[in-house]
Amino acid sequence: MLMVLRVPTGRMVGRDDELGRLLTLLDDAEAGRSVAALVSGDAGVGKSRLVSEVTRLAEGRGFTVLSGQCAELGDSVPYLPLADALRGAAQSTGVLDALSSRPALGRLLPEGGDGRPADEDRSGLARQQMFGGVLGLLTELAAAAPVLLVLEDLHWADTSTRDLVTFLSRMLHRERVALIGTYRTDDLHRRHPLRPVVGELLRLPSVLAVDLAPLEPSALAEHLTAALAEHWMTAAPGRIDATALNDIVARAEGNAYYAEELLAASVGGDPADRHSLPAGLAALLLSRVEQLSDAAQRVLRAAAVAGRRADDELVRATSGLAAAEYEAAVREAVTHQLLVPDGTEGYVFRHALLREAVYGDLLPGERTRLHGTMSSLLSEEHQLAMPGTAAELAQHCLASHDIPGAFAASVRAGEEAKRLGAPAEAHRHYDQALELWERVAEPAKTAGMARGKLGLLSATSAADSGDYERAVHLLRRLRQALAALADRGDSEQDVLLNSRIGERLASYLMLMEDRKAIDEAVEVARATVDAIPAEPPTWQHARAISTYANTLLTEDDFTMAREQAERGLAAARAADAPWVEADALVTLGYISNREGRNDEAIKLLTEAHKQAREAEVLGVELRAAFHLAQAHLELGDLAIGAAVAHEGTKRANQTGLNMAPYGLDVQHLHFQCHFADGKWDHAQEIADGFPVRVTSIPEAYLSSMALFIDVARDNPAAAERRAWIEPFWSMHGFDEFIARGLLAEHALWRGDTEQALTEAQAAMDVSFEAPWGYHPSVIRPAAVALRARADRAVLARATGDDETAAAEVAAAAELLRIAREGAAFPKRPKFILGPEARGWLARAEAEFRRAGGDNDSEAWQAVLTEFGPAYVYEIARSQWQLAEALAGAGRRDDATEQWSLAAHTADKLQARPLRRALDDLARRARIGTAVKHADGAVLAALTSREREVLRLIAAGRSNREIASVLFIAPKTASVHVSNILGKLGAASRTEAAAIAHREGLVSQP
Ligand SMILES: Nc1ncnc2c1ncn2[C@@H]1O[C@H](COP(=O)(O)OP(=O)(O)OP(=O)(O)O)[C@@H](O)[C@H]1O
Ligand SMILES: [Mg+2]
Repeated sequence: MLMVLRVPTGRMVGRDDELGRLLTLLDDAEAGRSVAALVSGDAGVGKSRLVSEVTRLAEGRGFTVLSGQCAELGDSVPYLPLADALRGAAQSTGVLDALSSRPALGRLLPEGGDGRPADEDRSGLARQQMFGGVLGLLTELAAAAPVLLVLEDLHWADTSTRDLVTFLSRMLHRERVALIGTYRTDDLHRRHPLRPVVGELLRLPSVLAVDLAPLEPSALAEHLTAALAEHWMTAAPGRIDATALNDIVARAEGNAYYAEELLAASVGGDPADRHSLPAGLAALLLSRVEQLSDAAQRVLRAAAVAGRRADDELVRATSGLAAAEYEAAVREAVTHQLLVPDGTEGYVFRHALLREAVYGDLLPGERTRLHGTMSSLLSEEHQLAMPGTAAELAQHCLASHDIPGAFAASVRAGEEAKRLGAPAEAHRHYDQALELWERVAEPAKTAGMARGKLGLLSATSAADSGDYERAVHLLRRLRQALAALADRGDSEQDVLLNSRIGERLASYLMLMEDRKAIDEAVEVARATVDAIPAEPPTWQHARAISTYANTLLTEDDFTMAREQAERGLAAARAADAPWVEADALVTLGYISNREGRNDEAIKLLTEAHKQAREAEVLGVELRAAFHLAQAHLELGDLAIGAAVAHEGTKRANQTGLNMAPYGLDVQHLHFQCHFADGKWDHAQEIADGFPVRVTSIPEAYLSSMALFIDVARDNPAAAERRAWIEPFWSMHGFDEFIARGLLAEHALWRGDTEQALTEAQAAMDVSFEAPWGYHPSVIRPAAVALRARADRAVLARATGDDETAAAEVAAAAELLRIAREGAAFPKRPKFILGPEARGWLARAEAEFRRAGGDNDSEAWQAVLTEFGPAYVYEIARSQWQLAEALAGAGRRDDATEQWSLAAHTADKLQARPLRRALDDLARRARIGTAVKHADGAVLAALTSREREVLRLIAAGRSNREIASVLFIAPKTASVHVSNILGKLGAASRTEAAAIAHREGLVSQP
């Protein structure tokens, strides 16, 4: 094997600080805090040396180490460093086991893993599967022992690898994994694609930057002395004095590699020439090469062209030397420390910079010829079987001006990248092939496909890598070109291909989420259906209709969508295409659900789910699971909903699709079911797995979901989640709706009605859709806002501020109107509200009455009835408010009963804010048993009632307010106040308040 660089392991000098910082990374990983570090610095400054030291120490500490390198010619080879790391570690049984259950990863290895190719219509998830697979692999390995993943020379990384690094840095959170990446600073020019990635990563709190400065002269001198003593003396005996050594140190400017090379050149050469050493590292390296025999130089040149993975035999063949001659030449290069043995079978350049220098020095004709020889050797089928070879071959062909060769290799490299789940690379290779199309004699024959098909593949790959704009652009142009052909009377049109192009264009347009694009999508989808004959039945025809049905879901009336989905279903059955059939069934189920026929929806979706699983079409299976679980949840069938969502989550995890669309959604449904049914320890476990450091809307959405429990338990995580979600709020998406609705509750628990109203309003705004009006989703934030209004109105009334009270009631009336409008769902009059929405609507009504001064226990009883028994937490919250209403009506026993039920649930759930509210109510209304707080000695003289009153005095409340809050007459309140002042020896309310503060009474929640 000839590879670029493996660093020798002499003593490391002058990097104590940096090493220390990287070792804390290992500590963190061991403690279950995933972390990453980016080690940067100029070429040859010592990044690899430092990292190899960390690797060695990590191995000593029992880490599983996976280490892979990028290569200069490798930026078109998908996942090269990952493949390298896995190959290196595949001897370990733990790694082997973890790999064997993840076929997507196995494909990176030479043996190929499970070859089941993603078929044309189902492949969009390959990248997510790959990322999910790597995440799963690391998690599994980390369960047995901490893991260190090293990815070297990321400045040469391919797009997919860069994306993977970002993905891992965000997703790894509590696993015992450390990730170290290295890159060259001097290679990172302004437009370098790694630049934005580094910028994004360094914003993450868990990512550490370790920038390597040049070594100190003393460290460098120490290093050179040691090197001299170690082996170079034996290799090339010569003498060198202190002055010469200092000279080298000065010239090397802290670059260890440069220094080593200067030393080697000085020691090896004639002492008289020492001062005429060429300036600059490249020239220096070349002067060393020039001292070798002709044959050895030929070997180096061939090796430089071979680049990364090129076996011994390949280099020999390229060099054109006979076996014996070749052996001798290699030995010579090794003696001169230009090549070093690597493994049992080959050699690598001692340093990447040397390879670059030799390569840069090739004469133009020579370079072309060598690349030509390389490409003819690599086109052998046994070579091409190795993952990544086709991409390299394409480059060698281009470099040797072999256009047909480059064309064929690009097509093959595109197919391979696609199979490996590297759509960005696939797109790049297909695009390359498209560019060469005109310059090849029989392109369609060579590629094995028509130009339109190649264009389609290029576009779908772009879309799969997330670049929908590019995909849409390519497909629009393809359609135009096809239309122009048709106009010219070209009869050789491939209707099926054209239909695929139109169908894909329509689906990608749908994802652009802007009105114009959606209109275009409907238009394109309709035209595509019209252009394809129904007979003979084909899956493409069925697919085109199903997609048309999906585009119609954006219209207000579902009648057309249903019609087309039914047509699509029939066409799919006729064409015997079960995966298309499953998709159409999901659409039909979704429509039934949206129109309020949930029993029908469940029947359809259950069928769709089963069918999708049998047809092994994962994307549809997850979509079906999501809608099915949702329908159950809406009906209040939490147990079945949870089971479906749980099974969907398991499938998503197994297949690496946990962060893909619907894979992500089944997870939050699973969470929601358990949040609702009161299994909160489980719910918390699920929510803790939701990413905190989110960088996309779907992730922000998932994180927002975790706020349900983080707010209800007042977990500190709520604040961190908020900080990461907030940047996405400008998009007014559902993530904002969820997050701000919950943050409104958060504010309300803390008594901040102002903030609560702001957040609730923002959530309500998201739920408004012109021209129809509000969705049912508005009910919940409206009810939360109503609670804030009611609190204010009650307080205002207690202080005799009737004007404010009236204003609050008016505002509350408007909120109630909105809640009712949402419930009526003007956009979909056939919609029937589920129990949760009905419960919240009843709550809104009850709060409105409370705002008006009529805290009606009947109204709160109605809330309980509407939620039904399934929603454990909501029941407890309602019981709390019912208890308050009952206490206000003087029904102390009934109040105590409701209070106790609520307190029991709050304790069981660890719903701390609710428990605090209950304690507060207990103290005020003298019902139940509030958690007792130890008071200071000064307060010991007060009764518990008086302590309550003092707390309110300290909060600046008047006697009338105190009376209202404590359910007592104003006269009684004033008696309490004077008793308190007497007992405390306080001259005024202000003084009493000061004592309360000093004694810590008011800081207690
Ligand atoms: N702190 C050090 N102590 C001893 N030797 C070092 C030290 N730093 C670097 N070296 C030596 O200098 C040479 C170059 O270092 P290294 O390969 O680590 O550089 P690099 O930063 O990884 O370069 P590149 O960007 O080309 O990958 C190696 O031979 C290495 O052993
Ligand atoms: Mg290096």
